[in-house]
Amino acid sequence: MSVPDRIPQVRRLADVAAVRARFDELGLDLTLDDEIEAGADAPLAQPWTVALADGPERTVGNRFAVLPMEGWDGTIDGRPTDLVARRWERFGASGAKLVWGGEAVAVRADGRANPNQLCIGPDSVDDLGDLRRRLVAAHAEQHGRTDDLLVGLQLTHSGRWSRPEGSPVPRTVYRHPVLDDRVPVDEGTLLTDDDLDDLSQRFVDAAGVAAEAGFDFVDVKACHGYLLHELLSGVDRDGPYGGALEDRARFQLATLAAIRDRVPDLGLGVRLSIYDLAPHEAGPDGVGRPAVSGPYRYAFGGDGTGTGIDLSETNRLLDLLAGAGVSMVCTTAGSPYHCPHAQRPAYFPPSDGYLPPADPLVEVARMIGATAVLRARHPELAFVGSGYSYLQEWLPHVAQAEVRAGRVDSVGIGRMVLSYPDLAADVLAGRPLDRRRLCRTFSDCTTAPRNGLVSGCFPLDEHYKAMPARVELTRIKREAEAARGGRRR
Ligand SMILES: Cc1cc2nc3c(=O)[nH]c(=O)nc-3n(C[C@H](O)[C@H](O)[C@H](O)COP(=O)(O)O)c2cc1C
Ligand code: SF4
Repeated sequence: MSVPDRIPQVRRLADVAAVRARFDELGLDLTLDDEIEAGADAPLAQPWTVALADGPERTVGNRFAVLPMEGWDGTIDGRPTDLVARRWERFGASGAKLVWGGEAVAVRADGRANPNQLCIGPDSVDDLGDLRRRLVAAHAEQHGRTDDLLVGLQLTHSGRWSRPEGSPVPRTVYRHPVLDDRVPVDEGTLLTDDDLDDLSQRFVDAAGVAAEAGFDFVDVKACHGYLLHELLSGVDRDGPYGGALEDRARFQLATLAAIRDRVPDLGLGVRLSIYDLAPHEAGPDGVGRPAVSGPYRYAFGGDGTGTGIDLSETNRLLDLLAGAGVSMVCTTAGSPYHCPHAQRPAYFPPSDGYLPPADPLVEVARMIGATAVLRARHPELAFVGSGYSYLQEWLPHVAQAEVRAGRVDSVGIGRMVLSYPDLAADVLAGRPLDRRRLCRTFSDCTTAPRNGLVSGCFPLDEHYKAMPARVELTRIKREAEAARGGRRR
């Protein structure tokens, strides 16, 4: 079977029975409901509660969450633009009652992943407060009450993947046998213990600003290969921030404790890559394969093979995070830089990616299944899941089954919110899905920023469809396709 034919597209699975048969054929720990329920008693409409730090318990009005989605569209001094505001307003109008982080906001200029990433400093209260207000106002306009809407801000330092002015200026925490070849590292890029102490303070300052701007919680981001995630795999690093798990987690725990001291009422969340894989690369047939042979010891939550997972350390870390006052975890996996198939399952890879090594449903099921395993072990934490967009028309069916079975507290949606922001509202109201707006995982929202353009849903969002950048994107994709020997996927 040729590469393009070996994986059936989700849109070709005609009905629930066909989807179920495909899950069975792949041996997946994934199920879906036959019918989507609407109305006040529907599983996805059920409110849930979370105790945020020292503040009162909060009610979250339903089981949908918007995942953080950056647009590479801030000003070069890190401030929001109209495009950023548009995205946040659409997040608010989506109908989801939890907005997990909005988008990654750098706590320091050298930690920006691109020159257009938002950056938070003492002067950001008005800008960020305005974004939050617009989001809440859009929610109020479409959905009425907002006392059951929870909005957080994601704080980040991009570490190895920092590109504050466009070209890579990595800040790493250990020498990596594969990833060091993918960005220009030298001894000077390694952050010292003092550098890390200083950086922790920047997270604390940023959390203070977020609280002043009115956010309910901050997400001290530890995922996707960025700095706090890389620290978790620093098994070879000497000193207080490397080695045993308690040391690898020290930066995160100390930062969370200091935030609690500074702003006791502010909720604490962590977006965590609950497992990681070895860096992947395209093989001669364009299909992704591990770029290492033999054992791989730098995957936090990995089983040492580079492709399998072992959640023992993840479980231990979650205990530590809960002890530090974290009440919510948003689960994700791997990194969009070194194993994108695990992080954003897609049928069509981004221009610098590779064809999926297996049916992307396998990675969807792995992320959803691992989240359920962790949730069962940690009743003290609320879990927000990720990786659902690939399910397309079956997203609500799987989401309802997961929530009904108590395998996740809230279903996080990323790419689908870009193409079809009000999917959650349609599901909750019992309206049929608008199939023309379903994200088909074309990956344009990843390909565009990888090539210096703003990110958005160029194929399906009228606003981006009309942009001159779309013409440029089409050219870039054609060139990438030619380089892959004509394989679109
Ligand atoms: C364009 C784009 C921007 C993203 N920006 C962020 C971000 O700022 N912070 C973050 O934690 N994840 C980010 N992600 C990852 C998503 O939050 C989500 O984990 C991923 O898309 C998988 O979920 P999905 O299948 O619903 O899309 C981004 C993904 C995309 C495609
Ligand atoms: S560009 Fe649109 S359709 Fe493509 S993956 Fe992104 S959100 Fe989905």
